[in-house]
Amino acid sequence: MGEFKRVAVLSDVVSGTVIGVDVDGHRIAICNHEGDIRAVDGTCTHADADLCDGDLEDGELVCPLHFATFCTKTGHATAPPADEPLRVYEVKVDGEDILVKID
Ligand code: FES
Repeated sequence: MGEFKRVAVLSDVVSGTVIGVDVDGHRIAICNHEGDIRAVDGTCTHADADLCDGDLEDGELVCPLHFATFCTKTGHATAPPADEPLRVYEVKVDGEDILVKID
């Protein structure tokens, strides 16, 4: 089931950037790709680096450690060395608030 939780406000995540939030034990990367707010796991599937310290390039999250990339829409690993996908979270924007569905 899960429920939507408020994790940030729009002004926290300007277009082209990523921030990290910690919600109920989940490290989540909140990304703003040209105004589209997306949420994926914030921990790299290769060797557990914090993706929230990485860069967002053309909607892809770049791991700061070994530079694997992940699509922030599908979670798929798009460049090695990571090959496992990231979990994608459902996002809702309510006024200024960003809400993420947490299980
Ligand atoms: S920890 Fe992310 S690519 Fe290695």
